[in-house]
Amino acid sequence: MGRVGLGVAAGCAAATCAIAAVLVARRASARARWRRAIALHRDFEEGCATPPPRLRQVVDAMVVEMHAGLASDGGSKLKMLLTFVDALPTGYGLSSPPLRPLSLACLLNEEGTYYSIDLGGTNFRVLRVEVGAGSVVTSRKVELPIPEELTKGTIEELFNFIATALKDFIESEDGKVEQRALGFTFSFPVRQTSVSSGSLIRWTKGFSIENAVGTDVAQCLNEALARSGLNVRVTALVNDTVGTLALRHYNDEDTVAAVIIGAGTNACYIERTDAIIKCQGLLTNSGGMVVNMEWGNFWSSHLPRTAYDISLDDETQNRNDQGFEKMISGIYLGEIARLVLHRMALESDVFGDAADNLATPFTLSTPLLAAIREDDSPDLSEVRRILQEHLKILDTPLKTRRLVVKVCDIVTRRAARLAAAGIVGILKKLGRDGSGVALSGRTRGQPRRTVVAIEGGMYQEYPVFREYLDEALVEILGEEVARTVVLKVTEDGSGMGAALLAAVYSSNRQQGSI
Ligand code: BGC
Repeated sequence: MGRVGLGVAAGCAAATCAIAAVLVARRASARARWRRAIALHRDFEEGCATPPPRLRQVVDAMVVEMHAGLASDGGSKLKMLLTFVDALPTGYGLSSPPLRPLSLACLLNEEGTYYSIDLGGTNFRVLRVEVGAGSVVTSRKVELPIPEELTKGTIEELFNFIATALKDFIESEDGKVEQRALGFTFSFPVRQTSVSSGSLIRWTKGFSIENAVGTDVAQCLNEALARSGLNVRVTALVNDTVGTLALRHYNDEDTVAAVIIGAGTNACYIERTDAIIKCQGLLTNSGGMVVNMEWGNFWSSHLPRTAYDISLDDETQNRNDQGFEKMISGIYLGEIARLVLHRMALESDVFGDAADNLATPFTLSTPLLAAIREDDSPDLSEVRRILQEHLKILDTPLKTRRLVVKVCDIVTRRAARLAAAGIVGILKKLGRDGSGVALSGRTRGQPRRTVVAIEGGMYQEYPVFREYLDEALVEILGEEVARTVVLKVTEDGSGMGAALLAAVYSSNRQQGSI
């Protein structure tokens, strides 16, 4: 080989070395970026951890806050609102009244047709409910989306829209509008003054109609109904949890509480009036009343809060409120996952140039989060489709898609397990968690059958969420006690239950009531 040949060979070798060095450097930096993504994932997982001891701390904190909220208004972030519902319908005669320490059971002797309006999220529903001897059925139902602008306008505009929808609904049936009792499910915190009146404390779930706060929402709706020429008045103003409790109680008298886990989250339960200290002297013939906990606003230092939860809170209109709800319910879970993925995109480059596509708040909805978590195809093709179609993130490698699934799993698992802790908190307050002496004097190890009604898309339509919640209940309660606790999905409970309560409170007052 001549000199020239040697020079060329040396040049080639040098170029090869340089290329190899660049490739090695690139691979090393890709590995470093991947490690950063994994580190962010690990930190998030640790931050969201809910081992049983922590869940038990949340249970105990819930019980403490329940007591504080019952002791005085403003005594806790848990509002523990009176509902004035002191009688719950049963679907059969009380020929042999059950021996219960606290029973709100009443006979429902006002059969007939009732309407209910269910307002509380992105859609609202109008229902016609037939209440018969021992049966209650929805004979017609219409669901309509609420135009976005109406959630931020005036209360008159929103309620005119609702009244018109109810009028169209009734008129399309038989053309004549008779005097009817109406159940109004209004799923926001309301300070009730009677079973059919109450003023809005504050909006949640993205609603922000300013002139409504502090006003009597039942009266506003009655005025809108009158303006539209309808001879229908609100007989029962109820939270969605209370409607759900009423319907399940109608079918099963062991029902003591109801939980909603949908767009928002909340729970109500049957409390003894003498335990509602803030209303000394409150008397009901049944000795009890349903309390709307507004648990979405529960807060405790034991809740596993991450930097992403703080960022989410900053994005919302109700900052510093509804902390529990923001970790659990449907409006927020997709957004928490998006915040995590966005940070990964910025700090690790695992999503290539797509970081900007993850920058827009609320682009990853909770139904998409659920679809990602539930994709069991070997190549995660559904995850790929969602990333491409909804977030415009193209060509993700399988390992990146797996990482996305893990993030959605962490968000789901924490939410479901915290909801389970909340439920056990109620059971513990009622002495039904098997940990102590119950109200009836029953001792450890002999808990009664307890039914908790549950409604909302998170539990009903997201199997992984349901499994995590059920699993956590067993972890906290132990298998033996958990077997006595039945979570019963109560579809349409909020609307049907409101109609049932309209029936209870429009008839002559029943036995067991005030
Ligand atoms: C509201 C509650 C409601 C829950 C479920 C929360 O945002 O404050 O009143 O029960 O959502 O709809």
